[in-house]
Amino acid sequence: MTEHASELFTLFDFEEPARGNMSAMAWEYLACGAADEITLRWNRESFEQIKLNPRVLVDVAKLDTTVGLLGQTLPFPILLAPVGLQGLYHPEGEIAAVRGAGEAGATYVISSYSTTTLEKITAAATGPTWFQLYLQPERAFTKDLVQRAEAAGCRALCVTVDLPVLGVRNRMDRVRFAIPPELSCPHMTKDFTGFPVTWDDVDWLMSFTKLPVLLKGILNPDDADIAVEHGVAGIIVSNHGARDLDSTPATIEALPRVADKIAGRIAVLMDGGIRRGTDVLKAIALGANSVLIGRPFAFGLGAAGSEGVTLVVNILRKEFEIAMALTGRPTISSIDRSVLWPAAS
Ligand code: FNR
Repeated sequence: MTEHASELFTLFDFEEPARGNMSAMAWEYLACGAADEITLRWNRESFEQIKLNPRVLVDVAKLDTTVGLLGQTLPFPILLAPVGLQGLYHPEGEIAAVRGAGEAGATYVISSYSTTTLEKITAAATGPTWFQLYLQPERAFTKDLVQRAEAAGCRALCVTVDLPVLGVRNRMDRVRFAIPPELSCPHMTKDFTGFPVTWDDVDWLMSFTKLPVLLKGILNPDDADIAVEHGVAGIIVSNHGARDLDSTPATIEALPRVADKIAGRIAVLMDGGIRRGTDVLKAIALGANSVLIGRPFAFGLGAAGSEGVTLVVNILRKEFEIAMALTGRPTISSIDRSVLWPAAS
């Protein structure tokens, strides 16, 4: 572990060491949100405003954090979200990240914007992987990618549906962001900057893939309903880490509305702003089956490579267990809305 290890207690502690280890361009790409970063702030502030309502004298001597998801049994409900260009944050990029995830027991979602081929990433993996797909203008290209992900053993497809065009990212503009020539994105059509996909494309994908499909980037309950009608296995309530459309609500605010609409029919995951174990608890209470973290594990990767990724997951997992014990919720299924302090009426 690095010289910083003794100072790494919270997920926030990884940011400065990570920043010191990467170029200004890489940092701006990783840390930025869209436009005025209103939603980026809300993604955190909305968690901070939710209060907990603990129960005492419940037997929490044994905690069980396991959760079933799309045929997998996860030891705890935290996955690593697809984050592009990991070669920018650490020389070993996705390979170090997937090793760190496996060591911690977390499922790793391979980004379509990875700088290493999915076959090399799955070969290095010691735990489960999923593949995040950007549908691309040429269907043959997309189909080939999906079949490669299936052949490589990925267990689910996250289809990102919230990026018909890239958002306004002024911090990236200001550093004249460009992918350095030594990095390549083998799963992307050259010069891809978003592609408007529709429900027809989802149907097309579902017609041939053997993998469970999740739609990533749903905020509107009506879209969640349509997703169920189209037969997907799950959705991810996400605003893309507040990187695309500024002024959308925090995902933790959107989550209960979407989860109520889904009403248990398919899996509901969420990401955006998860930094503390109590955030994981709040998301589960509001209807998520599991959560994902994006920037935090990339900060871990930048700060300390694969060990940094493992440490980030371990810290969050431990904090989540402490939150369960202190609220008197010994199992995942016992975490419901009664763990939240009722809003003043
Ligand atoms: C992302 N995200 C993302 N999503 C996706 O579907 N495909 C991708 O390639 C990327 N790339 C990407 C790069 C970077 C630098 C970030 C920060 C995010 C979004 C990501 O999967 C996730 O939705 C958010 O990161 C979750 O928010 P937090 O945990 O970063 O607050």
